[in-house]
Amino acid sequence: MKVLITGGAGFIGSHLAEAYLEKGDEVYIVDDLSTGSMENIESLQEDKRFRNRIFVRIDNILNHETMLELIGICDTVFHLAAAVGVKYILDHPMESIKTNIQGTEKILELCNKFKKKLLIASSSEVYGKHTHAPLIETDNIIYGPSSKFRWSYAASKLMDEFTALAYYRTNGLNVTVPRLFNTIGPRQTGTYGMVVPRFVDQALRGEPLTVYGDGTQTRTFTGVKDVVKAFMGLMENEGSFGQVFNIGGTEEIAILDLAQKIIAITGSQSGIKMIPYEEAYEADFEDMERRVPSIEKVAQLIGFKPNDNLDDIIREIVAVMKKGN
Ligand SMILES: NC(=O)c1ccc[n+]([C@@H]2O[C@H](COP(=O)([O-])OP(=O)(O)OC[C@H]3O[C@@H](n4cnc5c(N)ncnc54)[C@H](O)[C@@H]3O)[C@@H](O)[C@H]2O)c1
Repeated sequence: MKVLITGGAGFIGSHLAEAYLEKGDEVYIVDDLSTGSMENIESLQEDKRFRNRIFVRIDNILNHETMLELIGICDTVFHLAAAVGVKYILDHPMESIKTNIQGTEKILELCNKFKKKLLIASSSEVYGKHTHAPLIETDNIIYGPSSKFRWSYAASKLMDEFTALAYYRTNGLNVTVPRLFNTIGPRQTGTYGMVVPRFVDQALRGEPLTVYGDGTQTRTFTGVKDVVKAFMGLMENEGSFGQVFNIGGTEEIAILDLAQKIIAITGSQSGIKMIPYEEAYEADFEDMERRVPSIEKVAQLIGFKPNDNLDDIIREIVAVMKKGN
């Protein structure tokens, strides 16, 4: 099978590429390296078992000719390329909206033209400002005003969902939409605001761990290997098409507790420094207080059961970051 992964040089995309290469498939990657990096896939390109089956194109998904060619060649498309991370979205508002809306629209149009199976990675951000838990796929959505740009990511991913579901309804396109909650693992970078790699990096350097806000906001974390398994499972199950699924961990943890956990696991002498949101991001920044998924729907369809041992996942990240990979 030929698998196309947009954003394949990114964090999740590179793990997905590895899983399909391990299975014996051919993997095509398109990535503009805006937040991804060649380092994420170098070991795959150098591996003797894989090197004749991995094809990398450094390009933008908005390039029509490139996408026409790649989607035409491949059997299955995983669309992961997106402007990601609150910090990145605030720094690049225009580019982010273009990638997340026009890019996804192009991929849907071409997958429909060639009748290719498609998975589009959405986000728990889509839920907006809820405080209840767990969040279920049919919950209402609550956003802040359009003057607060952090919501543009959520709104663009929501538009992707609507467009995907419209293609399913109108054209019968086989498209599935997982909504990812915070996913963590080796190769994730803290540069664009992702909390776990940022904390681990600070702890290993002996610098204070910078907690934004008062640290009582909670999250759940899923290991990237579980997310990859879920993606593959959804793509192989026809019951996933035309549906949205939460994918995430269920162990809720406050960000301040997460910082303390990472200090303990790394054995670091670092302290914790609280930073107001307006300093970390922008004036009047709004965060989501809680983000806990119900995973009943995906569990029922494909038996998804995440490894909720956060300590183990963090230990693996620490080991890899210590080696400097
Ligand atoms: N990591 C998480 O916790 C999380 C949570 C929710 C949703 N997601 C979604 O999962 C997907 C993968 O995220 P990730 O965490 O691996 O982030 P990432 O930044 O590592 O991966 C995104 C990749 O897309 C590439 N890219 C961005 N714009 C592009 C463009 N216009 N053309 C070509 N390539 C482009 C980047 O260079 C990068 O390699 C994204 O769609 C993201 O919205 C991730």
